[in-house]
Amino acid sequence: MQFKHFLQFSDFNREEYEYIFERARWIKHEFKQYRQYWPLTDRTLAMIFDKNSTRTRLSFEAGMLQLGGAAIYLSTRDTQLGRGEPVEDAAKVISRMVDLIMIRTYEHDIIKRFAENSRVPVINGLTDKYHPCQIMSDIFTYTEYRGGISGKIVAWIGDANNMCNTWLQAAKIFDFKVHVSTPPGYDICPEQIGLIDATHYEIFSSPRKAVMGADLVTTDVWTSMGFEEETEQRKNDFAEFCVNAEMMALAKKDALFMHCLPAHRGEEVSAEVLEGPQSVVWDEAENRLHTQKALMEYLLLGKLAGN
Ligand code: CP
Ligand code: NVA
Repeated sequence: MQFKHFLQFSDFNREEYEYIFERARWIKHEFKQYRQYWPLTDRTLAMIFDKNSTRTRLSFEAGMLQLGGAAIYLSTRDTQLGRGEPVEDAAKVISRMVDLIMIRTYEHDIIKRFAENSRVPVINGLTDKYHPCQIMSDIFTYTEYRGGISGKIVAWIGDANNMCNTWLQAAKIFDFKVHVSTPPGYDICPEQIGLIDATHYEIFSSPRKAVMGADLVTTDVWTSMGFEEETEQRKNDFAEFCVNAEMMALAKKDALFMHCLPAHRGEEVSAEVLEGPQSVVWDEAENRLHTQKALMEYLLLGKLAGN
């Protein structure tokens, strides 16, 4: 049987995203009308978490229930994976029992090995390298506000982390440009994320210059999960990389601000910007639910007739 995984943003093309967004708009609308939509009755999602989560767990679990299916939460600590069972063996077993699997883990290689041994679609719920579900929600959110992201400028301020890598992949697919500004020593590695030319990004040593003229300004925590021992060093290295009102004022007047959350007010973003009129962070979080419901529908049922 043919099926797809969603391990990185570049696993889908533009047309697939347009389809998923169209479905997400409809699913969101029906949900807001309190209308039942159960296309995934009797389907089960296993969610494997190696790292903490609020939004990812809740949006996948609630999303699957709202589509008529069931979701099972597995913490690596409580499973045999936490006691050294090979990822390949776990994938073979788990994928015989459920219809869909979501994984949040550390090295991207773990999810790749899992997917290679899975009989069912695997979704990346965040690895050290990528966070495709979040960027799918972010682009959907941008489109809700501004009608489309193609041709726009997104300023990425801060760490060259999983979110940054995924924005860079998305820029190529949706044809927009990322102005990247990271502190010295925290540079992006374009070749490691499959980017062969610099058409869709530009590197700025000054975060203020990166933000100039941007349609969207976005950032993320200075220390991602798994890098906690670097926290103090990073606080020093990233001190000039706080998105505050002064920095936001350099972007376009109607620029939006995004952050995948959780946020650290006073570090990567000021409270004023996070809670200010340009911030759409709560919509980004909510849209995780709607876009992932469309994603799960697509992975399990394919394109529905009439769409
Ligand atoms: N943005 C995001 O993925 O949040 P959680 O870590 O709470 O899942
Ligand atoms: N870059 C962050 C995102 C959390 C949702 C991390 O990996 O911890």
